[in-house]
Amino acid sequence: MASKLTILLFFFFFFFTIALFTPTKAAFNVFDFGAKPGGQTDSAKAFLAAWAAACASPAPATIVVPKGRYLLNKVAFNGPCKSPSIKIQLQGTLVAPSYSVIGTADQWIHFYRIDNLSVFGGTLDGQGSKLWACKLAGRSCPDGAATLVFSGMNNLLINGLTSLNSELAHIVINGCNGVTMQGIMVIAAENSPNTDGLHVQMSTAVTITKATLKTGDDCISIGPGMNGLWIEDVFCGPGHGISIGSLGKDMQEPGVQNVTVTGATFSGTQNGVRIKTWGRPSLGFVKGVRFEHIVMQNVQNPIVITQNYCPTQKNCPGQNSGVKISDVTYNDVQGTSATPVAVNFDCSPSNPCRGIKLQNIKLTYDNKQAQSSCTHAAGTTAGFVVPESCL
Ligand SMILES: *[C@@H]1O[C@H](CO)[C@@H](O)[C@H](O)[C@H]1NC(C)=O
Ligand SMILES: *[C@@H]1O[C@H](CO)[C@@H](O)[C@H](O)[C@H]1NC(C)=O
Repeated sequence: MASKLTILLFFFFFFFTIALFTPTKAAFNVFDFGAKPGGQTDSAKAFLAAWAAACASPAPATIVVPKGRYLLNKVAFNGPCKSPSIKIQLQGTLVAPSYSVIGTADQWIHFYRIDNLSVFGGTLDGQGSKLWACKLAGRSCPDGAATLVFSGMNNLLINGLTSLNSELAHIVINGCNGVTMQGIMVIAAENSPNTDGLHVQMSTAVTITKATLKTGDDCISIGPGMNGLWIEDVFCGPGHGISIGSLGKDMQEPGVQNVTVTGATFSGTQNGVRIKTWGRPSLGFVKGVRFEHIVMQNVQNPIVITQNYCPTQKNCPGQNSGVKISDVTYNDVQGTSATPVAVNFDCSPSNPCRGIKLQNIKLTYDNKQAQSSCTHAAGTTAGFVVPESCL
């Protein structure tokens, strides 16, 4: 009898001790750090305290942001962290302060040098409309801050996040390796200046799936040094389309390679799929790009390459782009163009586009066949190609 009790007690303490000293998952609720959900009180300090606790946790950590609106001043969540992984469960909405407070900062919310971060759900409200009004009125106003920037991250997951009314770009991925963005929604007014939806650059292995992007500038913009980008099942409009570039502003610039866009709908956008470079000398390049299974609905420039971008007419007029564009495939691109020229390859005289491939293209304008235009572009066609290829 006594020995049975001893054995029972032994097991009880054995498991109790194991439970006590095995790092299990740690949860950190921003309420416990003083966050106020009424949307009036700055909760940045509370969020940073929750971050510090999660980041220092030896176990995988979860930060919980319950429902509610949280006013958040400019914040930076920095790594590296002790925790092997951090999950942010964002049930509430984070609200930016006015542009007079953060309009001169590079970004509102910054995540820097963190491995294995995942962000689930939530809404970011950049409150950018007053800044857009200031810019549209031609008054002197600050540039504005990007809503959410990730830099130096490894293995990042963003799932089901919504970004509203950013001052500048919505979400920026810079210098990251291994990024998955699923079910992202971006919303800003059609006339909002410089509100790129998703901007990616200097990164490898980035995947964007099931995104709904409605904004005033590019739905997705792809900057220098992007290597390995997969974009699948994206809706864009209003917006300026999916753009590789602007590239080639600088002489020394890493190229863009291995980019796939598969399954995208563009509705009423300025561009569909675009490659855009400055008319300036550069060692940059674009190679290994596939645009496929794309529907165009009343798009102004459905398929476009322009290599003479020179917005301010300073430091570039009359110069050729040094960016070398090669191995770009357009496959199964169909729908309607809002202008007569639906396919426009305006390449650099000194660095003509090579290896352009058009396959199964059908774009109409005003119920008639659209036109195509080629300058310094070479390549091949396969299947049906309407408008007729000028390659
Ligand atoms: C991130 O996760 C991977 C895979 O689970 C793990 O090997 C790595 O150590 C983690 N990184 C950090 C900094 O803990
Ligand atoms: C291209 O990028 C994809 C990710 O989108 C990656 O899986 C693949 O290995 C890359 N291919 C090359 C040749 O680098």
